[in-house]
Formats: sequence, structure tokens, C-alpha cells
Amino acid sequence: MAARLLASGRYGAVHAGVRGDAAVPEGARCFRFDAMDEPSIVAAVADLPEPPALVVVATGLLHDEARAIAPEKTWRSLSAPAMADVYAANAIGPALIAKHCLPRLPRDRRAVFAVLSAKVGSIGDNRLGGWHSYRASKAALNMLVRNFAIELERGNPRAVVAALHPGTVDSRLSAPFQRRVAPGRLFSPDEAADHLLAVIDGLTPADSGGLFAWNGERLPW
Ligand SMILES: NC(=O)c1ccc[n+]([C@@H]2O[C@H](COP(=O)([O-])OP(=O)(O)OC[C@H]3O[C@@H](n4cnc5c(N)ncnc54)[C@H](OP(=O)(O)O)[C@@H]3O)[C@@H](O)[C@H]2O)c1
Repeated sequence: MAARLLASGRYGAVHAGVRGDAAVPEGARCFRFDAMDEPSIVAAVADLPEPPALVVVATGLLHDEARAIAPEKTWRSLSAPAMADVYAANAIGPALIAKHCLPRLPRDRRAVFAVLSAKVGSIGDNRLGGWHSYRASKAALNMLVRNFAIELERGNPRAVVAALHPGTVDSRLSAPFQRRVAPGRLFSPDEAADHLLAVIDGLTPADSGGLFAWNGERLPW
């Protein structure tokens, strides 16, 4: 996403936040943060030279063998520590980032706070069940986005907060689940970023609080 934002040439500066020592695209200004370490978010936001016109939160967690986290097919597989970690990455972390970024959005021009969610977090769209913690944490995220939109509208009516579903993207997160993806529906990270940036471009304040798919379709909560 940071690379595609840089390539667009539309932003004076692109700040890319990573955990640990992950690399960021050349040309982006790198900052380190952990979404569960609030002071690291405060420090990153304080370092911004001007109000950000666009914030994209792309953290998330579906599985992690080292922590025995895997999408549950049945309630029998639920574990409190795994659930807590999934909720932390998918809902609590993005909420803390919103806490510190939403007040910094500019008021004199369009601004967007977008967070990567997932279609499986749509309660209305859920026909298959399973993936309990991931689905529930993304549903919680979608509710937070709706709540933040209501709160944001009062003080900054030109700003938009939205949840985005990127489709299935070739990444570490989707790697174990790519066999079932229909031909042409596994997007590269570059393709996914271009889709999402096009969706972001089309968002208006009337869309604030919504969940949008990679093709711009508004999904049910
Ligand atoms: N890939 C898909 O098919 C797909 C589909 C639907 C939705 N999504 C959503 O899209 C988003 C991005 O997913 P992805 O495919 O890029 O997955 P990914 O490759 O696993 O990336 C997830 C990123 O989140 C970071 N992260 C997790 N916890 C964090 C924390 N506490 N603080 C800071 N960073 C943290 C990870 O950092 P580390 O590298 O340090 O662990 C990693 O860079 C997620 O929200 C995911 O749920 C993805």
C-alpha cells in the first residue's frame, strides 16, 4: 500500500509504520510501532509534520503457529489466549490507532481513515460459520468503525472512516487458504492496493462507517 501511494505521486510524504525491523518501500518515511503499545502510536502520530489526509491501518491476524492460533472450525477449538490475541490485532489495535489519528485528521479538506477488515466479519453475509475469533474480531472492528463515524461526523463532517475488504490477497495471512480461491481472484499486494486506493478515492462522508469490498461494493454489517 505504501509503495502504491508513493507511486501515485499524490501525497507529499508517505509514512509507513512497521513492527520490528521489517523494511518499508524506498521513499517512504519509516516509523516503528506496535498496535498494542499505545505510547508507540502516540509517538508516531506526534512525529507527523502535518495532519494526515489519509491513514490506512493494515494490521491483522488470522493464524500464528508459534502462538497456537488457527481459525477455529468449531466452538470446541476456542481458547481464551488465542481469542484475546486475535481480538487485539484485529480490533483493539486499530481502535487505539483511530483514537490518536482521528483527532489529527484535517478539517479544511477531505480526509480518510481506512482500516483493513474482512468480508467474513460481516454478520449479515455470514452463511458458512467457522473462523470464530477472526470473524468476531472483524465484526467488532466493523462496529467500531461505525461508532467512530458517528463520533467523527460531529466534529469533522468532511472526514470519512471506513472498513475495507481487500479480497483474497497473496500474503502470509492467506497462504494456507489459497487453494480454494477461484482463478483470477487471488490478488497480488500491488493489485489489492490499487483496488483499495480506488475505493478510498470514491468514498464520501455519506459512506462513513461502512464496510466496502475491493470492487467498491458496500457490504452489509
Ligand atoms: N490477505 C488476505 O487475503 C486478506 C483478506 C481479507 C482481509 N485481510 C486483512 O488485510 C489486512 C492485512 O492482511 P495481510 O494479508 O497483509 O496479512 P499479513 O501479511 O499477515 O500482515 C499482517 C500485518 O499486521 C501486522 N501486525 C499484526 N499485529 C500487529 C501489531 N500488534 N502491531 C503492529 N503490526 C501488527 C503484522 O506485523 P508483523 O509482520 O510484525 O507480524 C503484519 O505486517 C489484515 O487486517 C487482514 O485481516 C486480508
